Amino acid sequence: METLTFIQFTDIHLGESAAFPPESLRQIKNNLDTALKEINNLKDNVDFLVVTGDAINRGVEAADEYLSYMNKFDMPVYNIPSSHDLALGDKPDGNIILNDDPTTWEEYMGPAKHSFSHKGVHFIFFEPFRKVDEFSSKNTFDEEYSAWLSTELEKVSPGQALVIGYHIPIIPIKKSYTGWDNAEQFLDLLQGYNVTCISGHRHRNDENMINGIRQIQTGSFAGFQWNGMGPHYIFPVRAGYRIFQVKDSKLCSFYKEIGVEDQVVLETINGIHTMGPRPKIRPVILHSDTVLNIKTYSTDSEFTELEYTLGNKKWTSLSKTNSALWEEWEGIVPYDKFHKKFNIITIRGTLANSKMAYDSVPVHIRERNDSLPAEGGPEMTFELMTSASEADFNKCKDQHDFPWAVIPR
Ligand SMILES: [Fe+2]
Repeated sequence: METLTFIQFTDIHLGESAAFPPESLRQIKNNLDTALKEINNLKDNVDFLVVTGDAINRGVEAADEYLSYMNKFDMPVYNIPSSHDLALGDKPDGNIILNDDPTTWEEYMGPAKHSFSHKGVHFIFFEPFRKVDEFSSKNTFDEEYSAWLSTELEKVSPGQALVIGYHIPIIPIKKSYTGWDNAEQFLDLLQGYNVTCISGHRHRNDENMINGIRQIQTGSFAGFQWNGMGPHYIFPVRAGYRIFQVKDSKLCSFYKEIGVEDQVVLETINGIHTMGPRPKIRPVILHSDTVLNIKTYSTDSEFTELEYTLGNKKWTSLSKTNSALWEEWEGIVPYDKFHKKFNIITIRGTLANSKMAYDSVPVHIRERNDSLPAEGGPEMTFELMTSASEADFNKCKDQHDFPWAVIPR
C-alpha cells in the first residue's frame, strides 16, 4: 500500500500576548519560515498538515497572520481550536480570557471538526473544549460529541488505520483520567479499532497506552521560545513538529527539531518513552537487560553507524531496523554492563558525510529482576556537552555527569 505522510504542528502560539516578550514572537515566525523550507524539501511528499490547537496566542489579528503563514504551505491544512485559539483578549495581568464558543474562530479558520479518509487511513480531528472558569479549561466528551463520534466511526472498517487528533491529551491518574471529563466513554468507543490518538497542549513529547489505546503527545512548535525563556526553564522542549508515516496500516512518527540537520533521538528504553529530544528528559529505572530504540534523521545525508556507550569510552554498535524518511535502530544493553547505580546511556551516530550527532539519557539501575518492567522516573532537564581534553572528561565523569553528560572522545 502507498505510504501516507502527514505532519502535525501543535502549540505554535503565534501572535502577541501581554504575558510574553516580543522576542518570542520573532522566534516563532523564524520557526515558521524554517519549517516551511524543511517541509518543502522533504524527501517524501506530504499529504497534509494538521494543527492540533494553540495555533495562536489570542485574537483575530493573530488568526489573520496565522492564515497568511499557513497559506504558504502547498498542501491541505486542517485546524482545530482549543484554549488559546478561543481567547479573544488579554486580562490586565497578562492572562488570556478563555471562551468556548468556536463561532468567531470558525469564521476565520473553517470547520472545527474534521473526518475524512485518505490513502486508506481514516482521520478524525476535533476538540471537545470547555471553559471551566476564566483561568482554566478541560475537555468534556458529552452526549453530543459521543453521538457525532459514533457516527463517524461507522465509516471505519475493521483493521483500517485510524488517527484521532485533539489538543488536550488524556492523562491517566490512579483509577481515572485528567484533562477530559468522560474520558472513559471516549476510550470505550475506540476499543477494537487500529487507532492512534495524537495531541499537544503539554508542550512535551510522550507516548503511552491508555486503556489499550495508543496516544502520542507532540512538543510545542514554539518550543521554549513561547515565553522567551531559555531551554532549561519552565518548558525545556525544543521547537519542532511531528512527521507521521502510515504504511500497511502501521503508523510511525518522528519529532523533527526545527532547524537541526542531523538528529539522534534515544526514544524508548525498555518501552519507556524518554520524552526527548533533550533537554526535556524522563530518566528510566531499570531492573533487567535493556532494549534501546533510537530514531535518526538527516536532512542532507544518512546515518551509517550508530553506537552506544555507558560513559566508559567503549562503544557498541546498534542495528538498523528500518530506513525510510528517518532510520530506526535497536540494541540490547545486558544488565551486567551497567557498572553503577546511576548510568548515562549515550548514543553516537555517524553520517555518510562523516559528521556525528549524539543523544543521551540517564538511567537508574535497581537490583536485577527480569520480571519487573522498566519505569519512568520524574521528568528532568538533561544536557550534553563536549570536552576537548582527557582531564576535563575525567573531571566531569568523576562528578557523576549529572544533570549533563560529557561526550567521550
Ligand atoms: Fe500551548
